Amino acid sequence: MAKLIILRYPDPRLHTVAKAVTRVDARIRQLVDDMLESMYDADGVGLAATQVDVHERVIVIDTSEMRDQPRVLINPALVARSEEMTFTDEGCLSVPAIYDRVRRHARVTVRALGRDGEPHEFEAEGLLAVAVQHEMDHLIGKVFVEYLSQLKRDRIKTKMLKKVRDEERD
Ligand code: NI
Repeated sequence: MAKLIILRYPDPRLHTVAKAVTRVDARIRQLVDDMLESMYDADGVGLAATQVDVHERVIVIDTSEMRDQPRVLINPALVARSEEMTFTDEGCLSVPAIYDRVRRHARVTVRALGRDGEPHEFEAEGLLAVAVQHEMDHLIGKVFVEYLSQLKRDRIKTKMLKKVRDEERD
């Protein structure tokens, strides 16, 4: 396994639209394993392939407290969404140290392929439902800060770019 480099907002590559995975083969399983390792290492609850500059529809999520329930979603699709909406403070490994409220469906039903290439379907609520919607947004090139006001987004952009400059200087 290998740790992958996670792109940081406002990297334009984060706005790439991912393509469907045509075959769940050894290459995809390796990607999944590397993404899981990278997500756990960074202490995240989810990671989309887009964030590691691979533009295929692959997501890993683990919202469990013990960090021992990895979920692999390949070619995920939402087959149902609740009318009820919820506000949650979200963060993102591509936008470190920024958290803000985003409105999402409270419950979603997801259909996806697993690491074994087999289809599965599950209903999610709470943090898992939020994580699924957040990660699926990444696959269409959308970062959660795009739900915030232009003013907030500009501030975050400035902060992120400054952070990169500071890191380069060190
Ligand atoms: Ni994210």
